[in-house]
Amino acid sequence: DWTMPNYVEEAVERIREQVGNDEVILGLSGGVDSSVAAALIHRAIGDQLTCVFVDHGLLRLNEGDQVMEVLHKNLGVKIIRVNAIDQFMKHLEGVSDPEQKRKIIGREFVEVFQEEAGKLVNAKWLAQGTIYPDVIESAGAKTGKAVSIKSHHNVGGLPETLNLQLLEPLRELFKDEVRELGIALGLPHHMVYRHPFPGPGLGVRILGEVKQEYADLLRRADAIFIEELRNHIDPETGKSWYDLTSQAFAVFLPVKSVGVMGDGRTYDYVVALRAVQTSDFMTADWAHLPYPLLSKVSGRIINEVRGINRVTYDVSSKPPATIEWE
Ligand code: XMP
Repeated sequence: DWTMPNYVEEAVERIREQVGNDEVILGLSGGVDSSVAAALIHRAIGDQLTCVFVDHGLLRLNEGDQVMEVLHKNLGVKIIRVNAIDQFMKHLEGVSDPEQKRKIIGREFVEVFQEEAGKLVNAKWLAQGTIYPDVIESAGAKTGKAVSIKSHHNVGGLPETLNLQLLEPLRELFKDEVRELGIALGLPHHMVYRHPFPGPGLGVRILGEVKQEYADLLRRADAIFIEELRNHIDPETGKSWYDLTSQAFAVFLPVKSVGVMGDGRTYDYVVALRAVQTSDFMTADWAHLPYPLLSKVSGRIINEVRGINRVTYDVSSKPPATIEWE
């Protein structure tokens, strides 16, 4: 009989047979797939697995700490956390073209990862959280963004340059199965059922040139939006608006507009809120969020995040708009 506990046992056995006493490296992004892969491989081979988590300064609020808490502190996974914020910011300086930013972030990511991986001289395997839909997508030879998604997420080219064999224990699983597996391995619900987050992170949610100041403002606004989506329960379904949306986030607009505060005038930045409902991310509808929720989010962002004095809501569907703004 197929059950998740049986599946875990089988998968663990398979990994043990495959790698024997070898050491394995895994690039942890904080996303569902790489986290579940890490938890599974750790269950199989413990400290023979070393994860590398690169903080490029474009992560969500407290994301790095959460990854360390859940995977390292609670599950005991060995993780090298690399602070590469300055390096990424330096290379992104003066660059405003979206595809150019993606390329730079992807390239620097590979470079930082490669440097760390190079220090693990005994590693024989590179583990990746590739899931079944990724396998299909790559086989379908997509163009444009899809390629950059894969090449970034799966750190393309690394196995060759590092002379490593690929270990992809989630290759046969669909997303829902990966989530169930994550729960069975002891990962928390909020991590396993998190909205997708692009590899280039906030780099494509800060329009134009990326600056650390912008990233800091955006992180705080975004965290407020997500917190309120989780707090607001739809009475009809009993679900939170976080669970009723497929993806939701704040976007930083580097334009200033006038506002008032007390007796004074403000001249500060704008944030756009984006929330969509979709089954495949190829088309998407903007989410009809309740006004009281939008009102609460807007009020909190403007009051709590000094430097932002205006919040707008994106009412564009895909197509013709995309989900991300870049
Ligand atoms: P768009 O904006 O094309 O997004 O409607 C569709 C889905 O893809 C995600 N996305 C990315 N994911 N690297 C990624 O890993 C990227 O460069 C990238 N661009 C878009 C987006 O978040 C949405 O889920």
